Amino acid sequence: MSESEHETTAEPLKVALLGCGVVGSSVARMLVEHADDLTARVGRPLHLEGVAVRRPGRDRSDLPVDPSLFTTDAESLVERADIVIEVIGGIEPARSLIQAAMKHGASVVTANKALLAEDGPSLYAAAADAGVDLYYEAAVAGAIPILRPIRESLAGDEVRRVLGIVNGTTNYVLDKMDTTGQGFHEAVEQAQALGYAEADPTADVEGFDAAAKAAILASLAFHTRVSGDQVYREGITEVSAADVQAAREMDCVVKLLAICERTEALGEGGVGTPGVSVRVHPAMIPRSHPLGGVRDAYNAVFVEADAAGQLMFYGKGAGGDPTASAVLGDVVAVARHRVGGGRGPGESAYADLPVLDMGQALTRYHISLDVNDRPGVLAQVATAFAEHGVSIETVRQQLIETGEGEDAQKQARLVVVTHTAPDAALSATVEALTGLDSVHEVTSVMRVEGS
Ligand code: HSE
Repeated sequence: MSESEHETTAEPLKVALLGCGVVGSSVARMLVEHADDLTARVGRPLHLEGVAVRRPGRDRSDLPVDPSLFTTDAESLVERADIVIEVIGGIEPARSLIQAAMKHGASVVTANKALLAEDGPSLYAAAADAGVDLYYEAAVAGAIPILRPIRESLAGDEVRRVLGIVNGTTNYVLDKMDTTGQGFHEAVEQAQALGYAEADPTADVEGFDAAAKAAILASLAFHTRVSGDQVYREGITEVSAADVQAAREMDCVVKLLAICERTEALGEGGVGTPGVSVRVHPAMIPRSHPLGGVRDAYNAVFVEADAAGQLMFYGKGAGGDPTASAVLGDVVAVARHRVGGGRGPGESAYADLPVLDMGQALTRYHISLDVNDRPGVLAQVATAFAEHGVSIETVRQQLIETGEGEDAQKQARLVVVTHTAPDAALSATVEALTGLDSVHEVTSVMRVEGS
């Protein structure tokens, strides 16, 4: 008997699929349609044992799945499985089902970023206790292989920084604001009409989705536990057409970035203690930066490591088939371990670095402000920066006329870009500027990254 004949007649590994929405349907279809290839790659057939759904009566005749496999009894399904794929999303019942699956000895593949960001360590502990695998490539940036590269390929290097565009909805909205001059609300409505944004886009536009992904990326990159609620988060709802225009004038583009950095908290006398800064907020980045060219709903993750240098991972961050590609890759990996023995990497949190406050994050600000055009104003503005220890990199002034006739006034628009400084000092500077008599309005404040 040849080796491949031997492999295909081996006892199948039982796979339970929890959830049959957009991603689950693609996973089910790929499991069935690619069965022969998957068998050859794993060394044993993968048998779809059942698909747990909430509504068993729903028409799923488009799927090549035996209708008798659909069940509402997820609890008993996970007890019969060697591998459980969880694509339900949310915290419960996903967490209980994953815990139960591991207790019964099943390896788990999940796409559940919210659960991992909230409770990753307890899932890792359950996997270690049971001696099974926990894989979750699809939880961050959909189809893009990024977690395994960080967790395995870069395991011998020192990752310094991860900058990600990890939410397609917000990238689509910001891209439209950039290319059409639309405001935020108009761009969101267009994104909803085209199916890029949910009817309730809160999780995306307020940055919750990206914050969960940032927590997962930072935990892996820095061997440190970072939970979703430790991630500083600002969404894109306050980004205005004026901010996007200001970015354009700097040859920059506004992106919602997930930023994970190994850095130093500056204490008395500038002495640093190591820590990690993990944050999600809109920022200007140069159009020439690799992330500056990421358009539409695409995702990308830019990694800087000591020895590897700069790496860029780009692709589709959402959608049924792209996400199912990442899920199936994990299924093959964990299935191979069950055939050949051994396990993939577990939790690595040995570095245990402190997660720094946002005020300690080192960043740069772009500030536009309208001021009176009279002697001494520039000196007042410069003093506000100096008093907070913030160094100005560039300042540009443009005269603007406001009002008409007797109300006509000469004003100046100042555009200041700072050097790097702690975020607390930068935001205190903005507050001080806002309080100056000579400042009519601070029209745009945006962090600058990637240069
Ligand atoms: N809603 C996410 C996005 C995809 O817009 O990228 C799932 O994480």
